[in-house]
Amino acid sequence: MELLNKIKDKSAVIGIIGLGYVGLPLGLEFASKGFKVLGFDLDEIKVKNLNEGKTYIKHIASKRIKDVVDKKRFSATKEFDRLPEVDTIIICVPTPLDEHREPDMTYIVSTAETIAKYLRKGQLVSLESTTYPGTTDEILLPLFERSGERDGGNKFEVGKDFYLSFSPEREDPNNPSFNTATIPKVVGGVTPNCLKIATALYNNVVVKTVPVSSTRAAEATKLTENIYRSVNIALVNELKMVFDRMGIDVWEVIDAASTKPFGFQPFYPGPGLGGHCIPIDPFYLTWKAREYEVHTRFIELAGEVNTYMPYYVVEKGSEALNRVKKSLNGSKLLILGVAYKKDIDDMRESPSLRLIELFREKGCEVSYNDPYVPKLPRTRKYQFDMESVELTKENLAKFDLVVLSTDHSDYDYKMIAENASLILDSRNAFVKNGINDSTKIIKA
Ligand SMILES: NC(=O)c1ccc[n+]([C@@H]2O[C@H](COP(=O)([O-])OP(=O)(O)OC[C@H]3O[C@@H](n4cnc5c(N)ncnc54)[C@H](O)[C@@H]3O)[C@@H](O)[C@H]2O)c1
Repeated sequence: MELLNKIKDKSAVIGIIGLGYVGLPLGLEFASKGFKVLGFDLDEIKVKNLNEGKTYIKHIASKRIKDVVDKKRFSATKEFDRLPEVDTIIICVPTPLDEHREPDMTYIVSTAETIAKYLRKGQLVSLESTTYPGTTDEILLPLFERSGERDGGNKFEVGKDFYLSFSPEREDPNNPSFNTATIPKVVGGVTPNCLKIATALYNNVVVKTVPVSSTRAAEATKLTENIYRSVNIALVNELKMVFDRMGIDVWEVIDAASTKPFGFQPFYPGPGLGGHCIPIDPFYLTWKAREYEVHTRFIELAGEVNTYMPYYVVEKGSEALNRVKKSLNGSKLLILGVAYKKDIDDMRESPSLRLIELFREKGCEVSYNDPYVPKLPRTRKYQFDMESVELTKENLAKFDLVVLSTDHSDYDYKMIAENASLILDSRNAFVKNGINDSTKIIKA
């Protein structure tokens, strides 16, 4: 297997399709380990910026990109006819849900069709986008087999003429303890040769590869990880609402339960699920399970509880204002944090956007502040024409209610507590920062 030797001596050229939160750090990792990387993306602006060594993701420094661009180890293109130049093609395109909460496979399908147009003998294709079990076998494999017939030839044989694998991404943006290189990577191959080549490839950039018996097992592993999070977050969200009625603080309870050295892992409640993965991926399994006449009740229930959380925050907001003889209707409200989690600038599926919409529907005049999101970009669902307001003492005093949605570390919680008249805290951030003022700060 010529490709195996090329991977071993690092002469293999690594192609990455989709230079987003997953594809870009992965490409940089290969480049920093001595491989030549060619990234493909449809977004002209991203391609231009990357080729100039500029980042567009807060937690990925421009210097990291510039270093490998200057060494001619990393470049980006939107010319897909350059696919034959690379030896491995790693697919990192989005897998969202459509408006009916069903898998939107258009990105994977169109990428696979493009690859099929150019696939040449000896290449490895590895899918990383999160998806339902069966995607690699059922969508990618037949398309790539037929590539061989392009010029009147025979079908390509997988494991011999080309190699195909699924290896789910486990990126956790801005996690201080783990990054692309230090997170073990699960790999499933369509044939033993595919697995051998794919593990050899990834062993160059990650601390450990974890081979599994099939691409379906690898696809199911990724979904299991995200479903586990979604269900456990839903559980603590439900407990939050129950305990709140009972006058018990769920965060205190979770901290106390976490002292058990076995059998308990803490998950924390919040204003709703956010990000590209947890609110979305579980429903890829729900959709596929229907084909087998099976219902994924845990997933649906978790979705129901988690989707309700922004409504719960709005209810708590109404109660909070009621305490000071005000109503949501006509109140000025400031949302703190619109990124889906703290200290990042990614706001995909952020519950803060749902909060903006729901509070507006109740008649609130809504503003927001986020140090990392100066202007609200258009998302698949929302288009708010809003800019982050400055977080000054004077500005804070103008609002009837301040709602802490994302607990960025940079926030000056003491200053906010001193100057806001009423605060709704959906993350227990004020207590965590040593501020206990239950007259003004209400947990939601
Ligand atoms: N973001 C995460 O933390 C994370 C973690 C684990 C898994 N994932 C999964 O990884 C996949 C990618 O997620 P992401 O967060 O990197 O998405 P992203 O939106 O940040 O990046 C996707 C990139 O693909 C490009 N693109 C879209 N269609 C394309 C096409 N047809 N050809 C070439 N490029 C195309 C986009 O322009 C974008 O740059 C998804 O399946 C996601 O579920 C993401």
